[in-house]
Amino acid sequence: MDRKKFSRLLYIPVLAGLLFSAQAYAENAPAPAEQEPTECFESREGYTTVQKTEIKPGLPNVKCSKRTGGVLWWGDPYDGTQEMGPMPVEADYTHEPAVVKPRTSQLKYYAPCTTCHNGSMVPYPKDKKPRPLAMHQDIVPDAMDLQHGRGAIWCLDCHNAKNRNTLISHQGDEIDFNQPQKLCGKCHGEVYSDWRDGIHGKRIGSWKKGGQKRWWVCTECHNPHMVQTKRFQPLKPEPAPQFPRTRKNADHEKHGHGASHDTGHAEQAAAHK
Ligand code: HEC
Ligand code: HEC
Ligand code: HEC
Ligand code: HEC
Repeated sequence: MDRKKFSRLLYIPVLAGLLFSAQAYAENAPAPAEQEPTECFESREGYTTVQKTEIKPGLPNVKCSKRTGGVLWWGDPYDGTQEMGPMPVEADYTHEPAVVKPRTSQLKYYAPCTTCHNGSMVPYPKDKKPRPLAMHQDIVPDAMDLQHGRGAIWCLDCHNAKNRNTLISHQGDEIDFNQPQKLCGKCHGEVYSDWRDGIHGKRIGSWKKGGQKRWWVCTECHNPHMVQTKRFQPLKPEPAPQFPRTRKNADHEKHGHGASHDTGHAEQAAAHK
């Protein structure tokens, strides 16, 4: 088939697609009265909550989706962050400022944990053997059937029995809740190394060499207790834009697509000969 014919054939589905999405937009467009939510989530729903505020008049800290409550855009990528803290292995964070959102403020039980786990109110567990629990069913429904690790690991492989305000490595080192990567990395070395290289996870901020970045830590995306069962649920997509970004109406559609494009393709075809 020659190029010209082929490109004409392509127009049909493309145009149909445009019409369809314009129609879908009209149908799904939120009612004008609908407000942007004031509480949104960045990645894991319920555990990456941000309050919508203004950094300065007219500049919001985030823009949120009216249909999912998910953050779509950041007015300030560093808002609410703190330094990542000391990291053992050299990576980008060694050479440029790296910040993270603290995790403890997202945890429902961080009263802190030692409010109850002080050895008397809740006794320190005697060993690491799995046992049914009288608490936290909202976090782990059945402590005898922890999903993460499919039976190979239990609570106290990650949680510090003696200082519940911290996590613990298998060597017995305390790990801050705000640095979960140090915990996850002990068992998921390959992914941890990908995360340090920027292949796994997410960063936003300045892309200048040496520029500051906000890094997402593992538990901003993964629920540490449900990694196997509650994986990533697809979100309802945002409505397609009604017009291309630089246009306010569909007038450009009316000036015969055909003519100008055809010449273009003919020239291209000639150039390829
Ligand atoms: C309101 C009191 C309370 C708070 C606050 C609390 N816990 Fe607990 N936690 C309990 C009770 C009660 C148990 C169950 C003990 C049992 O059944 O033997 C428990 C059990 C646990 C266990 C199972 C291992 C063990 O020690 O029995 C883990 C892990 C745990 N809690 C983690 C946490 C973490 C992490 C925090 C803070 C983010 C926290 N808890 C905050 C009351 C609390
Ligand atoms: C693979 C490691 C790991 C295991 C195993 C594990 N946890 Fe956790 N748990 C974590 C991490 C990491 C966090 C902090 C999550 C975050 O940053 O959102 C956490 C948070 C918690 C919290 C605080 C949640 C909140 O919203 O306040 C409780 C309670 C808890 N775990 C209980 C348990 C219990 C009970 C078990 C065993 C039945 C268990 N965990 C097993 C890693 C683990
Ligand atoms: C003590 C060791 C240990 C720690 C610590 C640990 N994991 Fe795991 N993780 C496992 C094991 C074991 C499995 C199960 C692997 C399998 O089923 O093949 C697993 C499975 C997973 C999976 C599912 C992988 C798959 O392909 O199904 C994810 C995602 C995951 N872990 C994330 C995390 C995150 C995030 C953390 C830190 C909060 C963490 N893990 C900490 C041992 C660990
Ligand atoms: C920005 C979100 C995000 C962050 C941050 C993140 N992950 Fe993931 N991770 C994903 C997604 C998406 C997948 C693929 C979906 C799946 O397998 O469930 C995945 C898959 C995984 C898997 C299973 C697949 C594999 O490649 O073996 C493991 C294990 C894992 N992540 C561990 C981690 C650890 C450890 C960290 C922190 C060092 C981390 N993740 C940080 C989003 C994230």
